[in-house]
Amino acid sequence: MTTVEKPALYRDLARQLAALIEGEADFVANLANTAALIYHGLPDLNWAGFYLRGGAELVLGPFQGKPACVRIPIGKGVCGACAERGAAVLVPDVHDFPGHIACDPESRSELVVPLIENNRVLGVLDLDSPLPARFDELDCAGCEQLIGVLLVHRGKY
Ligand code: SME
Repeated sequence: MTTVEKPALYRDLARQLAALIEGEADFVANLANTAALIYHGLPDLNWAGFYLRGGAELVLGPFQGKPACVRIPIGKGVCGACAERGAAVLVPDVHDFPGHIACDPESRSELVVPLIENNRVLGVLDLDSPLPARFDELDCAGCEQLIGVLLVHRGKY
């Protein structure tokens, strides 16, 4: 995918997401549809989903892909690092990230973006790919846009 096509794809996904979750107040249902939309809408993913904060750990939420580890302590792995920093973590090669938690040995690169509401990390969106360096800053911005749609909508109810 070219750098011209990526923003257009995310804009299209953001529109589809708004339509999918409009009128639905159930956050888990909306997370589930967001995970499905991303997994089927973006190329070259082997996992897409959410971990939600529960105290000092992240707990597996709605996702698409193979079964994954259920609990990740804040600060551990890529997801835990993202939740601790409250900022996106882009990992071009998971083998180079100390402490990476390998749920699926096929995953080669990963992008984790936080869900932040009122300065609090609610959870993270985690994308995995079997391709090295699958994700870049445009994916990061695109995922932030999708999370924005999800959370603005949540605020309406
Ligand atoms: N690789 C992640 C764990 C979650 S799975 O990829 C679905 C991590 O290191 O936090």
